[in-house]
Amino acid sequence: MSLLELKDIKKTYSLGNSILGKRKSVEAIKGISLTLEQGVCLGIVGESGSGKSTLGKIILGLEKPDQGEVLFQGKHLHSLKAKELKELRRNLQVVFQDCYSAVNPRLTIGEIIAEPIRNYERLSPTEERKQVEGLLEIVGLRLEDMHKYPSQFSGGQLQRINIARAIALKPNLIILDEAISALDALVQVQILNLLVQLKEDFQLSYLFISHDLQAVNYIADRIAVMYQGEVVEWLDDMEKLEQLKHPVSKKLISSVLSPYPVFF
Ligand SMILES: Nc1ncnc2c1ncn2[C@@H]1O[C@H](COP(=O)(O)OP(=O)(O)OP(=O)(O)O)[C@@H](O)[C@H]1O
Ligand SMILES: [Mg+2]
Repeated sequence: MSLLELKDIKKTYSLGNSILGKRKSVEAIKGISLTLEQGVCLGIVGESGSGKSTLGKIILGLEKPDQGEVLFQGKHLHSLKAKELKELRRNLQVVFQDCYSAVNPRLTIGEIIAEPIRNYERLSPTEERKQVEGLLEIVGLRLEDMHKYPSQFSGGQLQRINIARAIALKPNLIILDEAISALDALVQVQILNLLVQLKEDFQLSYLFISHDLQAVNYIADRIAVMYQGEVVEWLDDMEKLEQLKHPVSKKLISSVLSPYPVFF
């Protein structure tokens, strides 16, 4: 059984009426099927508007597909009862691009990281503190950071905090939607390396969504290239980036070759 299986997913957004009175709509996902195994990082790459985030939201249960099935750990995600969905969601976490809006500015870092633990487990304050300390250490932050507030951190440090929160419940899958895109190049490399390490240490699976083929190529075991709501090309051998043939893949490759700091 695959960790995640998508079967012919379709999603159309209605955009209301046009000036001529016709209903306008956009086919965000046009029939995507894929599987993801435990411990694997699947990279989803594509231009803006190609449907990457919509796909992520459907897998997270934040959007309902019009057609098709999402099976997570063999269960039909979109037909679960609220209680079952909550139980399943502990194994399915997310890190978004905007690290600032992902955290409550009024909570301390300790409280932010403890949030998912409090939602799912009954721990004593001492046990909880120990867990938070362990997580801070894993993501490379200092124990005293626990008492600080989000405004006291850089974007890169905040993304480490979001990652600590995402791994707090030892999930099976983390969806990373442009999780490093807002960070500067050097910090991107540091966070990518942290993610690679965590993947190895905890046998994590990632769905790594990005428009940056270079970053995806660095972290992913497999790449799906998306274009206008479809997967137009798959790459299974990360050493063979030049084998990508689709025009949109070529365009993404040429953007890698553009004047951009080569850091890998
Ligand atoms: N809630 C929504 N209502 C209407 N249209 C939407 C909605 N969400 C997404 N869309 C449309 O669906 C298409 C796919 O959007 P999506 O956000 O999935 O793209 P993306 O690949 O993540 O782009 P980006 O790289 O810019 O984040 C776009 O045309 C977008 O305008
Ligand atoms: Mg997006």
